Amino acid sequence: MDPILHEWGGFLIRWTHVVAAIAWIGASFYFMHLDASLRAIPAIPAGKGGEAWEVHGGGFYQVRKYLVAPDRMPEHLIWHKWQSYSTWLSGFFLLCWVYYGQADLYLIDPAVRAITPLTGALVGIGALALGWLIYDGLNRSALANRPLVLASAVFATVVAFAYGFQQVFSGRAAMLHTGAVIATWMTGNVFFVIMPNQRKAIAELVAGRVPNPAWGKQAKNRSSHNNYLTLPVLFFMLSGHYPMAWSSSLSWMIVGLVVIAGGVVRHFFNVRNAGGGERWWTWGVASACIAAAVAISVATSPAMRERVGLGDREATSPSPTETASLVAPAAAQGTTRTALPVDEAVMNVIGTRCSMCHASEPLWPGLAAAPKGVLLDTPEHVARFAPAIRIQAVLTHAMPPNNITDMQPEERDELARWLAAR
Ligand code: HEC
Repeated sequence: MDPILHEWGGFLIRWTHVVAAIAWIGASFYFMHLDASLRAIPAIPAGKGGEAWEVHGGGFYQVRKYLVAPDRMPEHLIWHKWQSYSTWLSGFFLLCWVYYGQADLYLIDPAVRAITPLTGALVGIGALALGWLIYDGLNRSALANRPLVLASAVFATVVAFAYGFQQVFSGRAAMLHTGAVIATWMTGNVFFVIMPNQRKAIAELVAGRVPNPAWGKQAKNRSSHNNYLTLPVLFFMLSGHYPMAWSSSLSWMIVGLVVIAGGVVRHFFNVRNAGGGERWWTWGVASACIAAAVAISVATSPAMRERVGLGDREATSPSPTETASLVAPAAAQGTTRTALPVDEAVMNVIGTRCSMCHASEPLWPGLAAAPKGVLLDTPEHVARFAPAIRIQAVLTHAMPPNNITDMQPEERDELARWLAAR
């Protein structure tokens, strides 16, 4: 495909996806809050729904919930389903566009597994389907009556998928696919459970019968799952842009920690909104989980592994700090950060491993412009992006993508040496 079309297409699909997701998650948060705020009134006894008053946009709202349905069909009924469907559809399209469309950059890391783009796409899409079958199966099993056991089984499933993806995909694609598996559960809950149950309830109402309350309960359960999964999914969806999150060899553990952190934070709000007090311990747990995730990412980053001799090569080359003195005088000449000179050795490395993509007119087929505006064509530009280069090519091996230009460990050392001297 024409690179400019691919670039614009990617941007526009992402825009659609983010807007749809905001609408969906906004509605999901709103209804969880509303559910938690309902109070019994004489017309609706406890357990059968309730009423809440709200103030917004210059007026007061009196909202009532009838569980599982009111006595007769209302004339005008608003459905909330397309926010969910459009989020999934645009997300799936974006997944195909980015990860399957440019599989060599994003999906396949030959150091992990040298698969073809087609195999990669089939594994990814197959995993989404398999994930739903497992999750839905767990929910329909006997575990459904034991919420804590069910939650643990779902949690284990997420971590297992994260681990499995790490065996086939690039670190970035592994974390993103983990998010996509969970997001598929969330839309699957709407499509396969919540909506059909609501349709059944309506059919009963129209026929003049009382709908089965179990349908409402089941829908509410799935809807709560969606709520607890929201924050972790957003983390995984955004993680692609932050290689410290996904480049760890133990990123499946980071996935587990983030699921716990996101879940307990939602718990805090759900309990508080229901008037159940403030469970401040949840924030302690969430902070501890995130701190552990950061610690794991640092301890297992490629740079750290090299330093402690766990890397994939002999620790013979001088460490960045040992060699830093070689270039320190050159660095000292610069008066501002951006004016710092970049020596020839560094420019050589960048020139052979990075510039074919990071140029105003990239030579790499399929790229219309310097990715993310990162130009690495002159010493000034390279100096300007030094902090980003450190994250992408030294602390993590996010760049070159999947080491597509075969960057050597010594060349990363060269960059580390230069960066340490800055
Ligand atoms: C094959 C093409 C290619 C090569 C070679 C390449 N990059 Fe990139 N680079 C990309 C793409 C594509 C992105 C955008 C990734 C994304 O969408 O998140 C990117 C993004 C970046 C970013 C910005 C990251 C961000 O999200 O802010 C930096 C910094 C970077 N690359 C540095 C480097 C360095 C340093 C090298 C050489 C060691 C390098 N790149 C080699 C394609 C390449």
